[in-house]
Amino acid sequence: MFKLTAKDLSIHYHIDKQTTEFIAVDQINFTITQGEFAVIVGPSGCGKTSVLNAIAGLLPITSGSLLLDDQLIDSIRKDCAMVFQSSALMPWRKVIDNIAYPLEIRGYSRTKRYQKARQYLRLVGLSKFEQSFPHQLSGGMQQRVNLARALNVEPSLLLLDEPFSALDALTREYMQDELQRIWLETQNTVVYITHLIAIPSPK
Ligand SMILES: Nc1ncnc2c1ncn2[C@@H]1O[C@H](COP(=O)(O)OP(=O)(O)OP(=O)(O)O)[C@@H](O)[C@H]1O
Ligand SMILES: [Mg+2]
Repeated sequence: MFKLTAKDLSIHYHIDKQTTEFIAVDQINFTITQGEFAVIVGPSGCGKTSVLNAIAGLLPITSGSLLLDDQLIDSIRKDCAMVFQSSALMPWRKVIDNIAYPLEIRGYSRTKRYQKARQYLRLVGLSKFEQSFPHQLSGGMQQRVNLARALNVEPSLLLLDEPFSALDALTREYMQDELQRIWLETQNTVVYITHLIAIPSPK
């Protein structure tokens, strides 16, 4: 059972030598345990992506600490997979080849990587589209392929940066339900960033 802990985590950016540094994240604290579905909610520019990048080891933190169990996260973590707001699929590769790609660069055999790719394509409900190219899919379907590709590496941490915010409201709600189903099935640890929350209307 692993634990991800942020203690007084701050992230500052240095824009240029003249201007003072910009404080993007200011002394935040959280703990995420294995198997949890954690959500980071906040308005645009409040530092969500910065936190996610730091968790993935892509961005150095300025002060405080970010620990996985008792180890400082200080380099790129290969056991993290990320899905971004916009589709990051390779347009010249078919859906199934996109999903198999991360296992190709990790040196898996062709049989193994396509067997796993098909398994995750089924999980996101797109088996019929394995031979399609990304441009032949809708935005929501492309995001599902992105999700399948991220799941294919069986990451210990799945980092989702507003993956559905470019979709229409109905598809987004459907995808959030789908994500919940997939999370229950895979029992992944998920950090999900969003600025879209349902605000109940006043009676
Ligand atoms: N590379 C950078 N250099 C300088 N400032 C940056 C850099 N990246 C982000 N920032 C600043 O840090 C702040 C937080 O950015 P971040 O991308 O983490 O926000 P966010 O919460 O993900 O926003 P959004 O919801 O719009 O994606 C912003 O004010 C932004 O201007
Ligand atoms: Mg962001």
